[in-house]
Amino acid sequence: MDHHSHGVRRDASPGPVLSGRPAQTSCHVSGTAVQITVLRGEKTALRARHESDIPVLQAELHDDVETRSRADSRPWRPIPPDSPHSPYRLREPSDDVVIFSAVALAPLHHPGAQPSLEARDQPELVGEALLWAVDLHNRLAHIGISLRPAYRGRGLGTDIVRTLCDYGFRIRGLHRLQIETLADNRAMITAAERNGFRHEGTLRQPAWVAGAFADEVIYGLLAPEWEARRVD
Ligand SMILES: CC(C)(COP(=O)(O)OP(=O)(O)OC[C@H]1O[C@@H](n2cnc3c(N)ncnc32)[C@H](O)[C@@H]1OP(=O)(O)O)[C@@H](O)C(=O)NCCC(=O)NCCS
Repeated sequence: MDHHSHGVRRDASPGPVLSGRPAQTSCHVSGTAVQITVLRGEKTALRARHESDIPVLQAELHDDVETRSRADSRPWRPIPPDSPHSPYRLREPSDDVVIFSAVALAPLHHPGAQPSLEARDQPELVGEALLWAVDLHNRLAHIGISLRPAYRGRGLGTDIVRTLCDYGFRIRGLHRLQIETLADNRAMITAAERNGFRHEGTLRQPAWVAGAFADEVIYGLLAPEWEARRVD
């Protein structure tokens, strides 16, 4: 998805695990157990992008032309995974965008995947998640999520939206988070609504998507609304 999700320029109540500090989970690297600090939801955790994520995200997200065209406002073009223009490339930390890879907290038995011996001890990569167009003056940011096809429709997107809200509001002190998506993207809209986002408007046909113009919806959530859900 990168930071051009369908929307602007074009790119549930929090569970108890979110109410404390970012949790730790164990991860095995080259046979050695290490602790990594991650933002943890109920089903997924958000961590930094790893180089090994790039070819997977490139193949399953970018190279799926139809889905990518629905999730990103820019025209689809072929991009090799090792290109400096890959939307999944590793980047230096920036004030403008916060890039995560989302991993599963428990094995999800991805039916199509035969993990390598090394990968068996690693949390499964489920997709990408980001805050984009972070505006530190107005204290707002936009949410973007794109999951690998086999991990969609399993409640992970809803969980990731919640964790991004926790990060945006509690860790970063933002005041407003916004989600833009195509008006027929029921999964994204429901994931937003389950986390308290309100429908704020519909843009008429701002998006050219694989042969037709499409409407977009804007959803917003403010920090006090998020806080009220946390204490309920
Ligand atoms: C959009 C996306 C992030 C949502 O994550 P997800 O894990 O698939 O969604 P969830 O499983 O959390 O589902 C959220 C809700 O939508 C519903 N839903 C899921 N897929 C659906 C579909 N295809 N049609 C209608 N409703 C759907 C679920 O039933 C759930 O509702 P519920 O809580 O009442 O059960 C994910 O589907 C995805 O990556 N899609 C492709 C890329 C994309 O569209 N990204 C967003 C661009 S802005």
